[in-house]
Amino acid sequence: MNKISFKIGLLFFVAIFLLESISMFFLHNNIIHSRVHDELSALQTRGNNHREVLQVSFHEETIKHIAMMEARTDSQVILTNPNGTIYMSSNKVTDEMKKIMKSTPKNVPHAGLILEDDWKKATYISSISPVVIDNKVNGYIYMFQNTLKIKNLISELNQHFLLAGVLSLLFMMIIITFLTRVVTHPLIQISEATKRISKGELSVSLPKLGKDEIGGLGESIRVLASDLDILKNERNEFLASISHELRTPLTYIKGYADIARRQDTSDADKDTYLGIIFEESVKLSKLVKELFNLAKMDENTFSIEKEEVHLQPYFQSIVEKVSPALKEHHLELFLECSAGLYAQIDPIRFEQVILNLLDNARKYSEPFTKISLIVSEESGKTHIKVIDQGRGIPEEDLPRIFERFYRVDKSRARSLGGTGLGLAIVKQLVESHGGTVAVTSSKYAGTTFEIVL
Ligand SMILES: Nc1ncnc2c1ncn2[C@@H]1O[C@H](COP(=O)(O)OP(=O)(O)OP(=O)(O)O)[C@@H](O)[C@H]1O
Ligand SMILES: [Mg+2]
Repeated sequence: MNKISFKIGLLFFVAIFLLESISMFFLHNNIIHSRVHDELSALQTRGNNHREVLQVSFHEETIKHIAMMEARTDSQVILTNPNGTIYMSSNKVTDEMKKIMKSTPKNVPHAGLILEDDWKKATYISSISPVVIDNKVNGYIYMFQNTLKIKNLISELNQHFLLAGVLSLLFMMIIITFLTRVVTHPLIQISEATKRISKGELSVSLPKLGKDEIGGLGESIRVLASDLDILKNERNEFLASISHELRTPLTYIKGYADIARRQDTSDADKDTYLGIIFEESVKLSKLVKELFNLAKMDENTFSIEKEEVHLQPYFQSIVEKVSPALKEHHLELFLECSAGLYAQIDPIRFEQVILNLLDNARKYSEPFTKISLIVSEESGKTHIKVIDQGRGIPEEDLPRIFERFYRVDKSRARSLGGTGLGLAIVKQLVESHGGTVAVTSSKYAGTTFEIVL
C-alpha cells in the first residue's frame, strides 16, 4: 500500500464511518423511542379500556372478569379504591409495584397518566387510569408490564444494528480499497515515471491515462521528458562542436607560436607566422563573441528594442555599407524597396541579420553574379528576401543549416572564415522579433532566404 492510497482511503473511511455512525445512532434512538412509546401507550390504552368497562358496570362480576383477562397476559392490572387500598390484583403485588403506586399524584386526569416509563432501570413500566362514576373518583386502575420484554426487544434490535454495522463497514472497506486504487493508480504511475526521469531515463513511456486532468498531466510529463532528452542531446552535440571549433584555431596558434619562437626561424618567417597567429586569434575572438551572443539570446537576457523604421533608407544604408566588399568579389547587389514601407524592428540587431545573409551570399557565390535584396509588403506583413545566384545548398542540408556550427562543406566553409554560427544568429534574432525565416535553394541555381515580419 502506498502513502497516497492510504491517505485517500483513510480520508474516505473516516468520512463515511462518521456519516454512517451518526445516522445509525439516530435511527437506533428513534426506533427504540417509538417502540417504547408504543408499549407505553398500549398499556395506557388497556388500562383505559378496563376503566371504561368499570365505569359502565362497577360490579364484583366485572372486576373478576377483568382480573381473569389480565392474568393471561404478560401485563398486570391492580384496582384500588380512591385512598389507594388495593381492591383487586390480577397477580401478586410486588414491593416494586407498591413503590410505583405510592408515587401517584393528587389529581390524575381522566385520560390517565404514565407512572413509570424508565424501562432501563425499573422492573415495570406502569400507567394509571381513574375510574370516575357520577363525577366522583371511585377508584384507580393501575397497569404494570415487566420491562424484560422491552429489554429483550431492544437487545435484539442492538444485535441487528451491530450486524448491519459490521457488514456495512466491511463492504465499505472493500469499496474504498477499490476506489482508491482507481483514483491513485495513474498518480502512482506518474510518480514512478518522474522518478525514472530524474534518474536520467528520459525515454519513459506512460500508458494512456485518459482525457481528464490526470491524463493531461501524464501527457505533459511525457512531452517534458522528450524535450529534456532532445535538449540533453543538443547540449552534448553543441559542446562537442564548440570544443572542435576551438581546437582548430588553437592548434594553428600553438603550432605557429612554437615555430616562431625557435632561434633558427628567420625574421620574415616569424612575421608570416605571427600574422597567421593574429588571424586565428581574431577568428577565435569572433567565435567566442558570437557564442556569447547566442547564449544571451537563449537566456532571453538579450533585449530587442523595436522602433518604427523607414525601410527604404534603412536598407539603402546597409547596401552602401556592403557594396565595396561585394565589388571586390565582382558581385553586384540590387535593392528593391518601395518608399512607403515601415516596420517595427530593432535597427541594430536587424542590420546584423541582413549583414549575415549578405555575407553568406557573398561567400557562396561565384564572381559576376547578382545578389538581390527585395523588400515588400504582403497582407500586412513585411517580406524581406535575399536572393543570390551562388552554388546553392543541397536539399539534404537545408533543414539543418540554421543549427549552430552546421556547414555544408566543412573544409571550404572554414577556409572562407565561416564558423557556422551566422544563420543560427539570424534565426534567433528574427524569432526574437516575432518573425520567421525560411530558405529555398537549388543546387548551382542560387539560394533565397525569406524573412517574414
Ligand atoms: N547563400 C548561401 N548559398 C549557399 N550556401 C549557403 C548560403 N548561406 C549559407 N550556406 C550554407 O550554410 C552554412 C551555414 O551558414 P552560416 O552562415 O550559419 O555559417 P557560415 O557562413 O559558414 O559561418 P559564419 O556565418 O558564422 O561566418 C554555410 O556553411 C553554407 O554551407
Ligand atoms: Mg554565414
